[in-house]
Amino acid sequence: MLKLSVVGTGYLGVTHAAAMSSLGFEVVGVDVDSKKIAQLQSGRVPFFEPHLEELLSKELSSGRLKFTTDFSQLSDCDVHFICVGTPQQKDGIAADLTYVDAAFNSVAKYAKAGSLLVGKSTVPVGTAEKIKSELANSHPTLELAWNPEFLREGFAVEDTLRPNRLVVGVTSDKAEKVLQEVYQSLLKNNVPWIRADLPTAELVKVAANSFLATKISFINAMAEICEAAGGDVTVLAKAIGYDPRIGSRFLQAGIGFGGGCLPKDIRAFMARSQELGAEQSLEFLREIDSINLRARQRVIDLVRADIGTDLKGKKIAVLGGAFKPDSDDVRDSPALDIAAQIHAAGANVSVHDPKAVEPARIRHPELQYTTEIDDCLRDADIVLHLTEWKIYREIDPKVAHGLVKSARIIDGRNALDREAWVAAGWKFRALGRS
Ligand code: UGA
Repeated sequence: MLKLSVVGTGYLGVTHAAAMSSLGFEVVGVDVDSKKIAQLQSGRVPFFEPHLEELLSKELSSGRLKFTTDFSQLSDCDVHFICVGTPQQKDGIAADLTYVDAAFNSVAKYAKAGSLLVGKSTVPVGTAEKIKSELANSHPTLELAWNPEFLREGFAVEDTLRPNRLVVGVTSDKAEKVLQEVYQSLLKNNVPWIRADLPTAELVKVAANSFLATKISFINAMAEICEAAGGDVTVLAKAIGYDPRIGSRFLQAGIGFGGGCLPKDIRAFMARSQELGAEQSLEFLREIDSINLRARQRVIDLVRADIGTDLKGKKIAVLGGAFKPDSDDVRDSPALDIAAQIHAAGANVSVHDPKAVEPARIRHPELQYTTEIDDCLRDADIVLHLTEWKIYREIDPKVAHGLVKSARIIDGRNALDREAWVAAGWKFRALGRS
């Protein structure tokens, strides 16, 4: 049986390590962050991801899964998955490849001759070819493959163990065979297997995320038109979604996309297209990005239209801080961005989130946080529903009416039951619904 290493213990790395262990492989997870490794060794996942902690504990006790900060422990592994982050550069829109470069260097140093290095991180096209030629000089027996990951936060375990496709960028039949051996139990379930060259494998990932971002911004552009023309974007989305060529998923209009992937991936893709002399081809992504950011501004404009342009001293209840439900990830969270902007305008903002309060506090310590919905709503001049956690759909609008100072709500995710809120006496606004 192959022995695997997984380098990088974020959402992708921890999930991949635990999932591969559950398929029967011995797996060593490696990270330079000793705090994270200590948590993982004791069975705790350093972030919230449904079902992952249960899987982690089970796999740790099986004895197949280990975590360490010591890279030399990957020296007896046959396959190394590199799962480190590629955040947006601090001073630009391109991807920061510091962690990818460092991870490949460390792995190459300890990897045994003939082993396979597999990039899973999302990288600008051309990165793999560059790493491949560096390896050819420094460690000629090591081989490189690229195997992009399509897991969604909130469904990470499910998406890893039941992917809708597996894409491998390889330059030899041998590398493809090794990866088929790794994924053989998934392939038994007829998961489509796509062999590609290295640049195509890298591009598949950013193309997929760009398409998803485009779909969301498309429907948000339609929301703007609906508002201008007096239409209802939720009905429009439902109607166009029945066309199987369009499909109904990712047509949820609202405050747009955030998180650690879609926003930075479309920006890094634009930056890379410029380097390739093909910037015109991705010019539209600039518009996708601005439609996305405009949705956040639209909420702030609606707040001002509802309670007055001067927000000083107004209490704003914000339901949701995470970039999406079932996650505690607040990276580029539209909800938190809106909360912070309203706070900066002088309002007194109280943010509720069932899971993301602590990560949100680290990013925006200036905001007030609560884990009690009632405390968040109490005496509010307006309520903003910004992350569609299920618990917010379970709020009784009649009870909530008794808590707030003024019964006004903006549904930034088009997820609440408008009729029920209106019937309970609320002034209800939503993006794209006149
Ligand atoms: C995204 C992709 O969906 C994954 O396939 C990919 O593997 C991952 O990025 C990645 O690159 O690692 P994720 O960031 O977990 O996954 O989040 P999504 O479920 O794609 O949602 C992104 C954002 O779009 C969220 O803020 C969500 O609220 C928003 N969204 C989604 C909408 O505003 N409307 C929709 O209809 C759908």
